[in-house]
Amino acid sequence: MVSLGLEDKVVVVTGGNRGIGATIVSFLQELGAKVAFTDLAIDEGKSSALGIKADVTSLESMEEAAKQIEEKLGPVYGIVANAGITKDNFFPKLTSQDWDAVINVNLKGVKNTIVPFIAGMYERGEGSIVSISSIVGERGNLGQTNYGATKAAVIGLTKSLAREAARYKVRANVVAPGFIDTEMTLAMPEKVRDKVTAEIPFGRFGKPEEIAWAVAFLLSPVASSFITGEVLRVNGAHYT
Ligand SMILES: NC(=O)c1ccc[n+]([C@@H]2O[C@H](COP(=O)([O-])OP(=O)(O)OC[C@H]3O[C@@H](n4cnc5c(N)ncnc54)[C@H](O)[C@@H]3O)[C@@H](O)[C@H]2O)c1
Repeated sequence: MVSLGLEDKVVVVTGGNRGIGATIVSFLQELGAKVAFTDLAIDEGKSSALGIKADVTSLESMEEAAKQIEEKLGPVYGIVANAGITKDNFFPKLTSQDWDAVINVNLKGVKNTIVPFIAGMYERGEGSIVSISSIVGERGNLGQTNYGATKAAVIGLTKSLAREAARYKVRANVVAPGFIDTEMTLAMPEKVRDKVTAEIPFGRFGKPEEIAWAVAFLLSPVASSFITGEVLRVNGAHYT
């Protein structure tokens, strides 16, 4: 029997209360992982995973969450830095508040998610970090200079971290989804959704499960054991 080797591995997913994050949480549970997730609010009873209220923009909040997770589930093997927001506007109209908000969640938030766990991973000599970037970080998109800047930065952060962490046998990779059906993209006006769909060679948006498979592969100590510093695009040939 072939297995991804995630049974009993402790994995933390940020922004796991809904959308892609919630799908990743339940998917990893099905693979036998012990999963904890964080979010700004936790819907009680929605998930059987350990849900902890924490804000990725605050290092203090993430350190407190990390303490609780490791006390309850044990040392963390895997991190999925998934929490992200959009605050779209054309560049000349983009406010400093919307610039800062997106940088704080999507870039600083990834750093704040990794920092509380990385020393332990180095000590144990194992771990896998998967950060969720976006097609927009590589290809760009109208109205998303702030979002695109953060998603490109996450790739840069990961490439350097992968080099630093390699000597400790800790890996860091990125999944870059194309347009995926979630609350985030359902908020797009129908006309825009139709236009985007027409640009995707697969002729449809992706499904959250298709991102969860990619994340599970990159977390796996078996399937991706020699893969680090990579960007795995999951976008139906929207950007190749
Ligand atoms: N949906 C897409 O088409 C798409 C495409 C490419 C990349 N992504 C990326 O995938 C990730 C998940 O997106 P989604 O579509 O599921 O979005 P979503 O809005 O449905 O879910 C994001 C989750 O992150 C949480 N979150 C926001 N700010 C937070 C904070 N400060 N601290 C903790 N949690 C916070 C939200 O509460 C929410 O539960 C994001 O990083 C997004 O940029 C999404």
